[in-house]
Formats: sequence, structure tokens, C-alpha cells
Amino acid sequence: MRLNKYIASAGICSRRKADELIENGNVKVNGAVVKTMGWQVEEDDVVEANGRVIEAVNKKIYVVVNKPLGYITSMQDEKDRDTVADLVADIPQRLFPVGRLDYNTTGLLIMTNDGELTQTLTHPRHEVYKTYVAKVAGVISDSRLAKLRKGVDIGGFVTSPAKVRLVRQMPRHAVVEISIREGKNRQVRKMFAAVGNKVQELHRTAIGEIRLGRLKEGHYRKLTKEEIAYLKGL
Ligand code: URA
Repeated sequence: MRLNKYIASAGICSRRKADELIENGNVKVNGAVVKTMGWQVEEDDVVEANGRVIEAVNKKIYVVVNKPLGYITSMQDEKDRDTVADLVADIPQRLFPVGRLDYNTTGLLIMTNDGELTQTLTHPRHEVYKTYVAKVAGVISDSRLAKLRKGVDIGGFVTSPAKVRLVRQMPRHAVVEISIREGKNRQVRKMFAAVGNKVQELHRTAIGEIRLGRLKEGHYRKLTKEEIAYLKGL
């Protein structure tokens, strides 16, 4: 994209003003002053105007957020509840969630303005393992874990094989890690309900190789180049 267009599309000024900034030597690309209007800005170039780094509005941005409890996975809500858009409000680009997490589910959510990647990741053909840690009520027996692994009927739909690991059995609840490839509505909750254990807390820790790690609740981090390449390669 031409340098003057890039600056203008960041929404900080008009194209004419951008031309002026360039002419006056107030624009740097990768640290060096550039006075050529038609300079082509490449993917990883860092553009500064008046000493501030700017990003074009249509620049592709990829983040993971750690969704807190009680946020809805959509950009606005008619009941005025908190939405995941609030978590990335300081990013000028308009990001959309990739897939959904329930109101009461916490953890890893990818957000991007790359519609193509969103399509890829949510298309059933590409479904990648999504890993959750569930706190469930009661005792979960080996036979129940085996059922979850094999597939359970969640109301007219039998789930495909899942990876399931008992993390901890306490007297009144258990913690189970479960990885599934599909993404039916409330699937993990329905799977545990199908074997007789109600989900009390549900937290997503990974999508494929993208991990939440130590990201604090309500915070986001940009995906690394490697993580973006990995997702695009799925
Ligand atoms: N499964 C659920 O039941 N809820 C989620 O939010 C995600 C997966």
C-alpha cells in the first residue's frame, strides 16, 4: 500500500495531510525518514508519523484474549452486558471473535479482523482440537471417562472421539481436561451432562498449539508470527 494511503487509512488524518507529513520529513519507515509519496509499505514495515507508530485500519491483527466469566462472545449486546469487544477496545482495528465461548465459560478466545482465517478455523473440515479444563460435580468414574473418549449422544448428535484426562478427583468434584474437535453449541457441558456430571466451571486453555499460558484474565496478547503461520497452515 502507498505510504500516504497507509497513513490516511489509519484514521489520523486526510490523504492531503499525510502527503504534507511525508513532504515535511515527519514520516519514518523502519526508523528512516521517507519523503517519497508513492513508497510502498510492506507487511512488516514499522511506520511512524510525528514520532508515533501507526497501523493501517485494514492491517491484519491476531490476538488471544483470556475471556472472563460473564462476557458474551459478540461485538455488541442488546442487554448491555460486557462483550469481548470491550477486552480489545484499545486496538483501533475492529476485531471479531473466532467461534464462540459461552457466557459462563472462561479462557482462550482468538480475535482477528482476518475473515479468511476465521472461515478456515471455524469450517468443520479444519476443526482443530480445542482443549478445556472442566470442574464437574461429583465423582467421575473410569467408565464415564471412557464414554466421553469414545463419543456420547448429546441429543441427536454423537460426539466424535475426544481426548480426556482426569486431572484430579476430589470428594465432591473432579477436574477433567478434555479436547474436542467439534464445536456444537454447549458441547462440553452437554457431554458431561450425558454421563451424569454437571459442569460447574469451564475454561478453555488451548486451540491446537495456541495456548493461553499465563495470560491474565481479561487481558490479551498478540499472536506471534509463528502462531499466525501455524493457524494459517491448518
Ligand atoms: N463447550 C461448552 O459447553 N461451552 C463452551 O463455551 C465451549 C465448549
